[in-house]
Amino acid sequence: MSSKPAKPSATSKNISSLLQEKRVFPPPSEFSARAHLKSMAGYRKLWKESVTRPESFWGKQARQELQWQRPFKKVLQWKEPFARWFVGGQLNVSANCLDRWLGTATANKAALIWEGEPATDGKPGEERVLTYAQLHREVCRFANVLKRQGIGRGDRVLLYLPMIPEAAIAMLACTRIGAVHSVVFGGFSAQSVADRIQDSGARLVVTADGGYRRGAVVPLKKNVDEALVLQGPDGERLAKSVEKVVVVRRCGNEVHMAEGRDLWWHRELEYVTPVCPAARMDSEAPLFILYTSGSTGKPKGILHSTAGYLLGAKLTSKYVFDLRDEDVYWCTADVGWVTGHSYIVYGPLANGATAVMYEGAPNWPEADRFWRIIEKYRVSILYTAPTAIRAFMKWGDEWPKKHDLSSLRLLGSVGEPINPEAWMWYHSVIGGGRCPIVDTWWQTETGSIMISPLPGVTPTKPGTATLPFFGILPEVVDDQGRRVPKGSGGKLVVRKPWPSMLRGIWGDPKRFKEVYWSEVKGSYFTGDGCRCDEDGYFWIVGRIDDVLNVAGHRIGTAEIESALVSHPSVAEAAVVGRPDELKGQALVCFVTLKSGQKASADLKNTLRNHIGKEIGPVAKPDEIRFAEALPKTRSGKIMRRLLKQVASGVEIRGDTTTLEDLSVLAKLSAAED
Ligand code: WTA
Repeated sequence: MSSKPAKPSATSKNISSLLQEKRVFPPPSEFSARAHLKSMAGYRKLWKESVTRPESFWGKQARQELQWQRPFKKVLQWKEPFARWFVGGQLNVSANCLDRWLGTATANKAALIWEGEPATDGKPGEERVLTYAQLHREVCRFANVLKRQGIGRGDRVLLYLPMIPEAAIAMLACTRIGAVHSVVFGGFSAQSVADRIQDSGARLVVTADGGYRRGAVVPLKKNVDEALVLQGPDGERLAKSVEKVVVVRRCGNEVHMAEGRDLWWHRELEYVTPVCPAARMDSEAPLFILYTSGSTGKPKGILHSTAGYLLGAKLTSKYVFDLRDEDVYWCTADVGWVTGHSYIVYGPLANGATAVMYEGAPNWPEADRFWRIIEKYRVSILYTAPTAIRAFMKWGDEWPKKHDLSSLRLLGSVGEPINPEAWMWYHSVIGGGRCPIVDTWWQTETGSIMISPLPGVTPTKPGTATLPFFGILPEVVDDQGRRVPKGSGGKLVVRKPWPSMLRGIWGDPKRFKEVYWSEVKGSYFTGDGCRCDEDGYFWIVGRIDDVLNVAGHRIGTAEIESALVSHPSVAEAAVVGRPDELKGQALVCFVTLKSGQKASADLKNTLRNHIGKEIGPVAKPDEIRFAEALPKTRSGKIMRRLLKQVASGVEIRGDTTTLEDLSVLAKLSAAED
C-alpha cells in the first residue's frame, strides 16, 4: 500500500483533482503519539487475538471496562442464533455511566453540554450544562418519578422527546430501575407511536409539549394524545397498555392534560428525593428496544441487553473516537436513532467524556449552525452523517470559513456510504487536512461500531470503512456463503457473535432467525452489499434488501407501500430508491389507482401527506408517479429492478399527472420470471 502524505487543500474547488490520485491517508504522527493504540502492527496483533480467542478477549475487556455488582461466571453461551454474554454477572448501566465518576475528578466535569435551537426572533438558543454529579442527581430523581408511578424491572417505557437533556435523563433513569426504554424519533407520526406502544406493551410514555425544528413547534404531546386513541382493525385501542404520560415543558405551547393520566415532569419532581439506588441487573436483562425498518412488514423491535451492549458502546467509543479527558465530543445524531443511543448517551458517558447535544437543524437559522457550535464549545471530535456533509458542501465553503474550527482533531462519519468527494471535502475544508476521518459502519442491530479505522493507526482511503473492530469477524460471501476473492462483491456477513449484537426481535424469535440467520448458514446477515479490496478494506456498497437509506435514515419500502395501499384511491404501489446527490437515495413511489380515481397533482399531495400521517414526515417520498399498470413477471411479482431503472433513468416529465404505461416494460423483459 502506498502511503503518500496528502496535501490538503483549503477549498472544495480542487477536490476532484485530489481524488485523481488513488490516495491513502496515513495516520498523522502527532495523533498516533497520544492515541490509545499506536501502530497497525499493534492493531493487527490485538485483532487476531480477539477473533482467535474471543472469550478470553471479551472476558478481559468486560472485567476491565465495566463495574460489576456481581462478577460473571461464563463469558459466552452460544446457541445459534441466541447469545448470552457474561452469564451470571450483575451490573447497572446508569451506575456505569454516572455513579462510577462520583468521587473522582470527573464528577464535576461537564457530562452533557446542551444547546437549544435558536429562537425565531434571532435570540441565541438556550444553553444547559450538566456535570456528571448533576446528571446523576437528575437521573435519580426521574428514576424515582418512574418508580412512584409503579414502573419497575422489565416494564417498557416509550420515550418520544425532542433533543433535550431530559431525553438522556429519561433513558438513564429507565436503566437505573431496570425498565426497558424504547425511544421513538420525533419525526414519526401518531400512528407510528401507537404501533410501537402496541408492539412493546409500554406502560408509560415520556414526551414533551413540543420540540423546536426550524423555528416551528413539533406537537409531540398532541401526537401522543392521538396515538392513545387510535384503533386497530379489530376496533381495539392500539395503545391500551399505557397508563401514564409524563410531559416535559419545553415550548410552553398549549397542550391538553388528561386528568389522572398526564403528569408534568417538573411537578412530579417535587414529590421525590434525589436518592435512588441502582438496580442490580443481570447481564442479559433487556436494556432497550429500538424499532427499525426491515424488508418486509412493520418495523422490528430490535432488542439489546445490558452488559454486552454497554461493553460494545464503551469500548468502541474509547478506541474509535480515541476519547481523552479533555475532549469535547459532538455526535449530531438524534437520540431517536441507534447512533444517538450508543454515541451520544451510553458510549461517551461510560467513558467519562463531555458530549454536546444540539436540538435543532444544521441550517437553522443559517447554514453555519454546526460551525458556530464547534467554535463556541471548542468541539474536538465531530461525528456526523454523509448526508449532512453533502448538504454543507452544497451550501458552500464560506459558511465553515467564517468560523474557527481549529479545535477539531477527529472527524467521524456514519449511517450511509460516504462518497469520496464528500470525504475529501470533510477532510480538507472541515478538518483542515489535519484530522483523521473515521468512517464507521454498523447498524441498529449491531449495537456498536463494527468496521472502522482506528485514528492514529489505520491508513484511510476515501469511501471505505476500512477494517473490523476488535472481536469482529466480517466477511464478504457469495450466495452459497463462500468467501469471495478480494476485489469481488458479495453479501456482508459477520461470522462470530459479539457482545453488543441484538438479542432478538421483540416478541418475534421466528422473524429474528429468518431475517438474520437464514440467508447465510452460521452467520449473521447484515443486509448490506460489500467488496473487500487488496488491503482487506471493506467497501460497503449499500443495502441489498428492500430497505432504503434516505439521508442516513432506514426506510422499508414495504412500510411505504402498505401506507400507500391503505389510501382509498390506491390500487397498487411499488416503492424503490434512486440515487440522489444529497440524500444518497431518494424515495420514488409508483402507484396505480383504483378505477374511477383520477391522477392529479392534488392527489400526489394527498398521498404524500397520507404517508406522513401513517409513518411520519421522515418517510415522505421524493417522488410519486402514477402508472397504468406496474411491470410484473408472469407469476405476478413486481419487477423492482426494472422500476429502479425507470426511477433513475427516465426524466421527470413536466406534466406530473400523466399516467405512464410501464406494463409494456414487463413484456420487454419477460425473461425475469
Ligand atoms: C448503512 C446506523 C456505509 C448500512 C448506525 C447499514 C453505512 C445501515 C455506514 C444501518 C457506513 C451505516 N458506510 N453504510 N459507514 N453506516 N450504513 O440501523 O446500509 O440506522 O446496514 O444504523 O446503514 O442503519 P441503522
